[in-house]
Amino acid sequence: MTHHMHRPKIALVGAGQIGGNLALMAAQKELGDVTLLDIPDLEGIAKGKALDIAQMSPIQGFDAGFKGTTNWDDIKGADVVIVTAGKPRKPGMSRDELLDVNVKIMKDVAVNVKKFCPEAFVVVVSNPLDAMVYALYKITGFNHQQVVGMAGVLDSGRFRYFVAEKLGVSIEDVTAFVLGGHGDDMVPVVQYCAVGGIPLNQMMKKEEIDKIVDRTRKAGGEIVALYKTGSAYYSPAAASITMVESYLRDKKRVLPAAAWLRGEYGLKDMFVGVPVVIGAGGVEKVIDAELSKDDRDALMKSASRVKELCVEVDKRL
Ligand code: NAI
Ligand code: 2OP
Repeated sequence: MTHHMHRPKIALVGAGQIGGNLALMAAQKELGDVTLLDIPDLEGIAKGKALDIAQMSPIQGFDAGFKGTTNWDDIKGADVVIVTAGKPRKPGMSRDELLDVNVKIMKDVAVNVKKFCPEAFVVVVSNPLDAMVYALYKITGFNHQQVVGMAGVLDSGRFRYFVAEKLGVSIEDVTAFVLGGHGDDMVPVVQYCAVGGIPLNQMMKKEEIDKIVDRTRKAGGEIVALYKTGSAYYSPAAASITMVESYLRDKKRVLPAAAWLRGEYGLKDMFVGVPVVIGAGGVEKVIDAELSKDDRDALMKSASRVKELCVEVDKRL
């Protein structure tokens, strides 16, 4: 996880809906040279997206290299790897139902990431998120600062958007975080949601807050029901890029993300969504915030569901 004078190499494992948007957003922020990797059946998609975005670069004026490939050797020595390989949800499906098929994919991916990108900062996006980042961590044996799962930035973005929309204020002034597993029992923490620094519960009635909390928890499913053929991709891509930018530019942003826990929040040996600091050292710190009894109970419930999934993962490794 060292920084070099050359442009950072960003490897996108999975050139699907999120992968393509990751390439676009990484390019527009000039974060580095981008390689999209997919399976042989989708070689044309990986190459096509790379070429399409390369041809966009003179129009928007970003300097970066783009490549599409099916060959792991092409992402050798990457500084950052973002893993979106896997199947997305179909309407009515839970994220957990993806476990079986996506563990198989994650095994292939993790073995190759370990072999070709041993120094990379790895952001896992594939679902079920907390179990997939656990699988990659276990298989690679990477250190815990080097591996993180993306969910909290997205879930918090949804929460913040719903609050801003309801109050008719700028999204810029709404801060919030969502804890727990990336499932419908995730924990939007109302106590710490603020509007221009003012606690949300001074700005909105409890019934309205409850509705927003419920919609946040189910927001992924709301998009799946609309799209019918897949799940959200613009917002998940943007959330992942926020984390990668904080790493590459050593911004030390405080972001909710699935991190390896070693006793924080009374949890250990698992990944679950908590506030972390992301900088040049990767996941530099887990922030152990005080929670109300209700939020703590909700976090424990969500974490126990994640634990069950990790047991299923262990059986398949
Ligand atoms: P997608 O189906 O458009 O793209 C996934 C890509 O992974 C496909 O192109 C597929 O060929 C590729 N792939 C499969 N096996 C591979 C392998 N062994 N090596 C390399 N590539 C491989 O799906 P989309 O919409 O991009 O979503 C990707 C994943 O992200 C899904 O599992 C989805 O559930 C998850 N997701 C997670 C979110 C989060 O907050 N963590 C939010 C939204 C989606
Ligand atoms: C989402 O939250 C389905 O995990 C996906 O949009």
